[in-house]
Formats: sequence, structure tokens, C-alpha cells
Amino acid sequence: MDALALIEGRASVRRFAPEPIPEADLERILAAAQRAPTDAGAQLYSILRVRDPALRRRLAEVAGGQPHVEEAPEFFVLLADLYRVGRVLELAGHTPGHFPRSGLHFAVIDAALAGAFLELAARALGYGAVWVGGLLNEAEALVRLLALPPGVFPVAGLAIGRPAEAPRPRPRLPGRLVVHTDRYQAYEEAALAEALSVMGTRWLRVLAHYFGREGVMEARDPAFGRAKAKQGFADDLTASAAALLESGSLGEAIQELLGSGWRGVLFGADEVWIEAEDRAFRGEGETPGEALAQAVRASREEGSFGPFERG
Ligand SMILES: Cc1cc2nc3c(=O)[nH]c(=O)nc-3n(C[C@H](O)[C@H](O)[C@H](O)COP(=O)(O)O)c2cc1C
Repeated sequence: MDALALIEGRASVRRFAPEPIPEADLERILAAAQRAPTDAGAQLYSILRVRDPALRRRLAEVAGGQPHVEEAPEFFVLLADLYRVGRVLELAGHTPGHFPRSGLHFAVIDAALAGAFLELAARALGYGAVWVGGLLNEAEALVRLLALPPGVFPVAGLAIGRPAEAPRPRPRLPGRLVVHTDRYQAYEEAALAEALSVMGTRWLRVLAHYFGREGVMEARDPAFGRAKAKQGFADDLTASAAALLESGSLGEAIQELLGSGWRGVLFGADEVWIEAEDRAFRGEGETPGEALAQAVRASREEGSFGPFERG
């Protein structure tokens, strides 16, 4: 089958025959994944093959009880990986740079492209696949379960195997609602209504379930943020605490700090300490809020983006 026909016919497969994938096929599929383009040739990703049945079962639970995670003949976790490149630089006598925000962006692109190539190569050999973002329901647990070092972050799972179903290609938005020319065209109501009518009510239900208020994405977000920080990809976590202080909510700022991994917030008569595992920052002020704001500023001025050291 030519490449375009393969792409045009693709659909996620979630039911697999139990037969294993021969190693020779697996090697070809993984080699094809490695052919994907990669930022600066750096290959800022890793592919983790999960073989341990108990670990598969646990991952299926993390993903909210998705049976294909446990049952697919092969299951991979795609990882954004800045750890390896950092180690290579160190070995060669260079100091790795510190770029926690943009680093994650490029590493996620690399991992996702490798995953897309992996999926298409698998399809070319007659296998089916489904991506499993549900693993990120519990990002912190996932990091622990897979023993990921700092600099490595899970992007998604990918289940593959011989298909036991033959789904037809699923609907997509009309191209003109997705492709813009020269400048971004803000969507008119009529275009949005067209999107809804083309994609249907089931689509809307899924959107609301995931992206609506109190949906899946909101539920995932706090653990995702903490895991990101622990892995060395923190946004300026203390920024939100600082913003809360400005709006005058001391309690919420403390909650934000403790929720984003600072171990303790200690108040004295006119001073405050915020503490992480291996460092602490002091602030002074006439009010507890002022003192805390100064401690938070001190931590930010040091270029620390939260309580976790980059590995
Ligand atoms: C990042 C990402 C995460 C996904 N997570 C899941 C998942 O956890 N479980 C699942 O069954 N499908 C998952 N999918 C598959 C999508 O549901 C699927 O691609 C989408 O519904 C469109 O259907 P199609 O792939 O058959 O065209 C995911 C896809 C992507 C790209």
C-alpha cells in the first residue's frame, strides 16, 4: 500500500488479536520511529517498551481502566527526553544549558513525531495502534512507576498489535476550518456551528467531558504540573503564588506553594521561610504577606523555578 493510502485509511484500533508481534517486525517498526525528524538531530525522546504484565495492569488502571493497555501485544510509552542529551554533553565536558520551558516543547515534538512514525510503520506491516494519553491521568504516579529521571517526561502511550476490529476512518473537521492562510482567521459563529454540525453531538460530548469545566483536563492538571516540576520542566511555579499574594490571598498563596512541591512555609514574627528539600528562601516584611512575597521573590531571583532541582 502506498504511504498516502495508508494515511487516508488510518483509524485508531483498540481491539487486538492476542498473537505477539515477531521481533523482526518490531525492529523495523522501531527503526522507522527513529527515522522521524528531530530537533537539531538531537533525538530528544525515548521509547519505553512495557513488557511486565503487572506494570501493564497498573498502567491500564492509571489510564482509567483502558483494557488495550493491558491486552495489546505491545505497549510503548513515548518520553520527552532531555536527560540523555544532558548526559552526553557532560560526558564530553560541556555544561548542559537550563531551558526548562522551551526544552519540554521541543522534546515533546520529537517524541510525538517518533510516535506518529511508529504508528504508521506498524500499520504498513498490517498492525493497528491506538495512542493512550489517559496515562497522564496520574502524571506523578506514572513518573514513579517508570522510574523516569529528571529531564524525562511521559508524552503518551501507544498500544499496537494485530487488529481484531477494522474501524473506518473517523470524521474530521472540514479542511477550511483548520487551515488558515497568512493570518489566523478568528472563527465566525457560522463556522463554529458548521464544525459542530459536521462533527456531531458525540464529539461535543467528548469535548465537554475532556475540555469543559471540571472535565478530565482540569482534573489532570495539578498532578501534571507537579510532575513537570519534579522532572525539571517547571514553569515559574512561584509566579502563581506571587500573583495570589498580589491579589491579597495569603491562604491561597500558601496552598499554591505547598501544592507545587515546596515542603514548608514557616512564619516567624516578621519573617518567612519557604523550604524545599535542599534549599530555603527567607523574606522579611511588616505583614506575613509582605514577608512571603519577599521569600517568593528571592527564590525566583535565584533562577529557581520551583522547589525541585534540575537533575
Ligand atoms: C495524544 C493522544 C491521546 C489519546 N489518548 C487516547 C486514550 O487514552 N484512549 C483511547 O482509546 N484513545 C486515545 N487517543 C485516540 C483518539 O481518541 C483518536 O485518535 C481520536 O478519537 C480520533 O480517532 P481516529 O484516531 O480513529 O481517527 C489519543 C490520541 C492522541 C493523539
